[in-house]
Amino acid sequence: MGTEAGEIHRGLKGVYFDTSEASFIDGSLGKLLYRGYNIHDLAEQSTFEEVTYLLLYGHLPTERELETLDSSLRDNRGLPEEVVDIIRLIKNCHPMDVLRTGISALSAFDPEAEDKSIDATRRKGIRLTSQAVSIVTAHHRIRQGLEPVNADPSLNHAGNFLYMLTGQKPMDQETNLMDVDFILHSEHGSNASAFAARVTASTLSDLHSAVVTGVGTLKGPLHGGAAESVMKMAQDIGDPANAENYARTTIENGERIMGFGHRVYRAEDPRARHLRERARVLGEQKGEPHWFQILMSLQEVMKPYQNKGIYVNVDFFAGAVYHLLGIPEDLFIPIFALGRIPGWTLQCMEQYENNVLIRPLTQYTGEMDLEYIAIDKRE
Ligand code: CMC
Repeated sequence: MGTEAGEIHRGLKGVYFDTSEASFIDGSLGKLLYRGYNIHDLAEQSTFEEVTYLLLYGHLPTERELETLDSSLRDNRGLPEEVVDIIRLIKNCHPMDVLRTGISALSAFDPEAEDKSIDATRRKGIRLTSQAVSIVTAHHRIRQGLEPVNADPSLNHAGNFLYMLTGQKPMDQETNLMDVDFILHSEHGSNASAFAARVTASTLSDLHSAVVTGVGTLKGPLHGGAAESVMKMAQDIGDPANAENYARTTIENGERIMGFGHRVYRAEDPRARHLRERARVLGEQKGEPHWFQILMSLQEVMKPYQNKGIYVNVDFFAGAVYHLLGIPEDLFIPIFALGRIPGWTLQCMEQYENNVLIRPLTQYTGEMDLEYIAIDKRE
């Protein structure tokens, strides 16, 4: 679908730049499919490992296929000592910066770093999915003056993440929550970070570079940073009774309510419901039901904006869930990134498979043909 010469689509809104078999999103119905499978079925019945297989291989795995992928994930949980040393050097940075730098550093130790074949890209994506968990958790330990925790091969991907973060075996319910959260974040079409990763892949650069691009793009508050902002917002609101005043003042000031709105959805983000109910249950169990109550009252006062297509998105309840799991706010975006690595990998595989350099145009609106004045003659 081309763009007429001279027609500008700021933010590339509504522009199709390629075809994809990764995700189907119907923004008006609030429908999301990964490789044809409904997100609700995957969130309720599947596992992150199974979804990773689905995304990277295009079909649901047999038990044997799943076992092979699962072993690869478990076998790649270690980090080269040099990468841990780099993490120690930059331990005071934001965890997203550490993740970006750590992934970049890992390319120096990856035996297939420069191999852009589909098989090698898939293998690297699987390695990075595991190694990224180790970067985030090692950094979190190191910055607290603790030593990184070795992976536990008996735990699944989500459970091992929580274990390496805290040093304590998580409860099944906590593991399940993280697992669902990773599934919900694992792929989402041509979002800003996946698009950015594809732009990098389209120059025939390597997967590590593309994932670094994705991490950098995800970091912003309009994309992956929203969950972190939602929790800060809930703390500012403080009480469900203040939600109405908060929403009115924020919107009157021309600011946005974090966790609401989406470039594609004009109905509720289908991913939100899976974290809403879990945030409620977890809040009650932890004796902190007020976070859920504050968010629900904000959701209620935002109802009039539904006619503008503004509904809650995936990040709205994610922040509360992480907070209730005892995870600090600056790890919320890295957690999104950990879930998204299979999606970024798939997007890059698609790009490599049928590559065309992504290179749009900007319409020049500056001055023309100015006379060059030597520096000593300038005023
Ligand atoms: N609060 C208040 N008003 C909003 C919001 C919001 N969260 N989102 C959109 N609007 C308004 C916006 O001001 C505009 O109003 P008007 O037409 O009067 O100017 C209208 O809705 C359309 O907005 P838009 O800017 O065209 O929408 P967009 O597609 O450019 O922005 C967005 C999408 C996600 C950047 C935006 O909704 C936003 O800033 N939301 C808050 C941040 C957030 O929660 N991001 C996480 C997105 S989901 C996770 C992910 O996949 O990244």
